[in-house]
Amino acid sequence: MAKLYPEFTEAELRAFSLEKGALPRHVGVIMDGNGRWAKKRILPRSAGHRAGMEALREIVRFSHSAGIEALTVYAFSTENWSRPRAEVDALFSLLEEYFYKEIDELDANGVRIRIIGDASAFSGKLHDLLDSAVRRTSGNSGLCFNIALNYGSRAEIVHAVSSLIDDGVKSADLSESIIDSRLYTAGLPELDLIIRTAGEQRLSNFLLWQAAYAEFVFTSVLFPDFTPEEYAKCLVEYAHRTRKFGKVL
Ligand code: FPP
Repeated sequence: MAKLYPEFTEAELRAFSLEKGALPRHVGVIMDGNGRWAKKRILPRSAGHRAGMEALREIVRFSHSAGIEALTVYAFSTENWSRPRAEVDALFSLLEEYFYKEIDELDANGVRIRIIGDASAFSGKLHDLLDSAVRRTSGNSGLCFNIALNYGSRAEIVHAVSSLIDDGVKSADLSESIIDSRLYTAGLPELDLIIRTAGEQRLSNFLLWQAAYAEFVFTSVLFPDFTPEEYAKCLVEYAHRTRKFGKVL
């Protein structure tokens, strides 16, 4: 039986200076800095991605235990295809390894996996692993863990709008909620917080539509060093923000 991720008690949350009622429901993470982490250690970039995968495992566990409803991570963008072939291959074999090793534990803990992006680009073993992970966990009711793969937010919006046109939806019937319903994130809670590691302060085509009212937290920590403690600091910063949604408070 794979280890369970127990739900944090109020006291455990307080040890991280967190309170249940002040947590975001949906967090997006731009996992940046794997390459710089490896470079600092004179290691190949693939070693940075492996260390990033290990950091991600802990972030998923922490999110689930804290009671966050949805976690969306940017694992491979549509632009990442232009990286050297060896790096792209290394990333895909890490993904395979991740699903192969983690699926039992994720499923046993009620985590629901969703792939967001154009998954038709993946074939063979990776495609089968992704497909079976999504199908196997689709009935779970714990953390919704969304992995953005071959994802680009502008392409997602184009895809959503073209599916509406194909279904004959008239311009008079177009609305924000109907577009929402065709995005890869349909049905998930509103995105509350985007965290980007490694110091850059941009969205890089990640969840542009969904980020309309999200809070942004940028940390200089490189993703492989992004421990649950560093994650908790970002959640505390979020809890201190005043969200106005365009209104006067
Ligand atoms: C950006 O760092 C990171 C990526 C392009 C890949 C993210 C992948 C992982 C964290 C590991 C595997 C993921 C899963 C879902 C198992 P970068 O290479 O651009 O870093 P740099 O800016 O320092 O060069």
